[in-house]
Amino acid sequence: MKRCVILISGRGSNMQALLRAQLPLEVAAVVSNDARAPGLAIARAAGVPTAAIDHRAFAGREAFDARLADEIERFAPDLVVLAGFMRILGQAFVQRFAGKLINIHPSLLPAFPGLHTHRRALEAGVRVHGCTVHFVTAEVDHGPIIIQAAIAVLPQDDEASLAARVLEQEHRIYPQALAWLARGQVRLNAHGRVDFPHPRNAPALIAPALDA
Ligand code: GAR
Repeated sequence: MKRCVILISGRGSNMQALLRAQLPLEVAAVVSNDARAPGLAIARAAGVPTAAIDHRAFAGREAFDARLADEIERFAPDLVVLAGFMRILGQAFVQRFAGKLINIHPSLLPAFPGLHTHRRALEAGVRVHGCTVHFVTAEVDHGPIIIQAAIAVLPQDDEASLAARVLEQEHRIYPQALAWLARGQVRLNAHGRVDFPHPRNAPALIAPALDA
């Protein structure tokens, strides 16, 4: 069975969704850059080894990244899964785990990379918003996309309601993406795109809905 290490910074609800999904993937460890991250207790309660490496204890990004990479490599993972990991990882780290590093982002990339995605989606007036699972490359929030979920933005939505509905979808698509990766059913091709051996279709989401 393939092994993964999950990196978190806080709540850990995506990590929890991955643990609950009973994937054909061993979660070898959960590592946080913050010892107070509530997700660490959830992981421990599930019997998963945890570690915390406080980024504030390091002089710069490169030193933190190097220490983090060494900690991850102790578990010899096939996949390194960012699940609400809120530190930007430098080029050396990304190269060290190239092709193994996966992230979930709360927008339909390439729209709204970075922070405050739900607020920015509301400000932009988009009708459709969502989340993306992608391979990580040196450019932040821009790697090859594995799966996305789209939801309709409703007139009464605020940042919290939108975040909650997107999070529900995050908890569906991250386990799916990792199941495909664990079973070797998706891979990066030579053009830096994600190939599916058996292409899958999905119905369109149109928002607001067309007249019946
Ligand atoms: C999730 O919405 C995740 O997509 C986002 O942080 C949240 C973490 O929640 N990640 C990013 O914004 C990364 N750029 P969780 O700790 O409950 O999984």
